Amino acid sequence: MTADIHETVRLHYAEAARDVLQGTSCCSDESSFGSQLYSALEREELPDAAVLASLGCGNPMMVADLHEGERVLDLGSGGGIDVLLSARRVGPTGRAFGLDMTDEMLTLARQNAATAGATNVEFLKGHIEEIPLPAGSIDVVISNCVVNLAADKPAVFREIARVLRPGGRIGIADILADDSLTPEKRAELGSYAGCIAGALSFSEYRAGLAAAGMSDVAITVSHEVGGGMFSALVKATKPATGGASDAGASGAEAATVPAGVTAAPASQADCCGTGCDCGAAE
Ligand SMILES: C[S@@+](CC[C@H](N)C(=O)[O-])C[C@H]1O[C@@H](n2cnc3c(N)ncnc32)[C@H](O)[C@@H]1O
Repeated sequence: MTADIHETVRLHYAEAARDVLQGTSCCSDESSFGSQLYSALEREELPDAAVLASLGCGNPMMVADLHEGERVLDLGSGGGIDVLLSARRVGPTGRAFGLDMTDEMLTLARQNAATAGATNVEFLKGHIEEIPLPAGSIDVVISNCVVNLAADKPAVFREIARVLRPGGRIGIADILADDSLTPEKRAELGSYAGCIAGALSFSEYRAGLAAAGMSDVAITVSHEVGGGMFSALVKATKPATGGASDAGASGAEAATVPAGVTAAPASQADCCGTGCDCGAAE
């Protein structure tokens, strides 16, 4: 099951990366996904190909609150947009790592880093369920529209907690499902590659992070992407001291879901830049 999901997702994003490498990307004009979610100033910091390759559903920079000298890890770094933005913010004394399982995305990201002249970045190949970095080595974990694609989400949350130093934090953009949508309903809505089948509900996300030992979980909805699915920004902290399981009681906050949001039809619920008709396999 895990290997099947990885392969389905990998094939999908390999094609998306090839589109950008060949200059034929068609996915940058959506308003709910991709580069439109970044400010003009942020986009100006980046090579065109990094902007074009943006397939996220939010902007982790809005919650990552990065500082000079910090070590940042981007889970599912794709074409590298958030790694490059992070690298500018942490400066020469910091480091920004990108982790992705898709060779084509890693090629694109390394090309974008070279174009940007970024020297404090490193792109690693691997799965976010098994992060190839030592325990306690990272100050901030970011991610943009990737945890929902993971085959084993408890493993991802455990790995996040493992690689963070005590007191470290996350700033993640992701797709979450309304608590009323059953896993069966989410599966009906779409595929893993389209982010739908794999999205956790708000309460599942909070519980997953808390079970991994993260505290002060805060989830803020950015916008609805359709069919009861939301783009949201997730913050949480690894306790500076104490055991891994003391986080559940520390009060994972209620998600802020805007009142009166009208659910769009499921057909509008494609996410992560996969909704456009660019020939990517669903
Ligand atoms: C929706 S794209 C987002 C890319 C990037 N974060 C952005 O905002 O443009 C998903 C990326 O996550 C990678 N990915 C998906 N599942 C993964 C996993 N289990 N382990 C590592 N990478 C994964 C894909 O290869 C792809 O590059």
